[in-house]
Amino acid sequence: MKTIPSAGPDITEAEIKLVNQAIRSGWYERRNLHLDLLTAAIQRHTDKRYCLPTSSGTAAIHLALLGLNIGPGDEVIVPDITWTASAAPIHYVGATPVFCDIDERSWCLSPASFEERITKKTKAVIVVNLYGNMVDIEPIRSIARRRGIAIIEDAAESIGGEYRGRPAGTLGDVGIFSFNATKLVIAGQGGMLVTDNKKVYERAKKLAHHGMRKYTIEATFWSEEIGFNYQWTNLQAALALAQFRRLRELLAKKKRAFGWYRAALEGIPGIQLNDQPRNATNTYWIVSAIIDSAYGWKKEQLMKKFRSCHIDLRPFFYPLSSMPAWKPYVRSKNMRQQNPVAYRISPYGICLPSATGITKAEVDYVCDCLKKTLRVKPTLCPVVKLQMG
Ligand SMILES: Cc1ncc(COP(=O)(O)O)c(C=O)c1O
Repeated sequence: MKTIPSAGPDITEAEIKLVNQAIRSGWYERRNLHLDLLTAAIQRHTDKRYCLPTSSGTAAIHLALLGLNIGPGDEVIVPDITWTASAAPIHYVGATPVFCDIDERSWCLSPASFEERITKKTKAVIVVNLYGNMVDIEPIRSIARRRGIAIIEDAAESIGGEYRGRPAGTLGDVGIFSFNATKLVIAGQGGMLVTDNKKVYERAKKLAHHGMRKYTIEATFWSEEIGFNYQWTNLQAALALAQFRRLRELLAKKKRAFGWYRAALEGIPGIQLNDQPRNATNTYWIVSAIIDSAYGWKKEQLMKKFRSCHIDLRPFFYPLSSMPAWKPYVRSKNMRQQNPVAYRISPYGICLPSATGITKAEVDYVCDCLKKTLRVKPTLCPVVKLQMG
């Protein structure tokens, strides 16, 4: 039996055609053709003044921090539950990441915990739209504005999402997207930085290409400062462009898969799926489930069990502060107390197979396996309640 994958690309003739076009003719004076078309498309989508394609989402976060002049001595608040790349660039620039708790329902940054972590050194906060859920930005923005803190929106997992009618990626001072192979819009690797701030954009653009400005006769290959090779390729942009043109269709497939999961798991107490508040539109990039601890199944045990059923489950992210890499930045001996939601949810969270190509039969099979494994008997877990969007 073939394993049901956790994620996967959705490739059609449209992608093949555009990549073919790029490989045949996207060189010389047309070397940026697809890059420029994608940049313009994202610009229209976000209505942001400046869009900078980058070699990855990680690079875009790094450039956002550099563009905001964040460095040694500065603190940047980041949710404890996120992909490690949301926080790694804070380390790259020599600033200090400060791990903040998440909200119980959205799994994104908790406004109350954010406010508690602010010090005189706090220069920025990175909000993350986890698994395609949207962060509740309003309270975070009003706190950040009052305290002069910049907001970077990590929309790597949420392209196509909306908050109060505004697209994901546009909720802060700088937004970033990722086009890596597991994302909704893929290019293998790739990213994009979006902002209205000209200074941030210009510095990010210069640093993305070894500290060089646009070539002139007087200044070709002329580095003004040491930068990075964070430029993207036209070939990958061609793939992302074809995918981005299919955004609505891809979003509809994700929503459909979520609907199947919801229908199959509805009525089972103690299973919390992605929450969608009234003011937001999630992308359901990854359908995730928090399984109440009353069932007694931790995520690693479930992953092992499901592997024997040919289902590729992924773990809900571990708190960054619990991992060896981030130990140097962990100030409190008791992060469990500081970030109780992150530590309570993470051990019992699983990411269900969510490739756009998943079928209803596959979703039903996954849900049947889950029900059998949990031996669902509502009386066993009277204290838990269902929380679905
Ligand atoms: C939340 C989040 N932030 C940042 C990134 C980094 O993106 P990339 O893999 O393109 O560097 C990812 C990608 O996996 C992500 O999921």
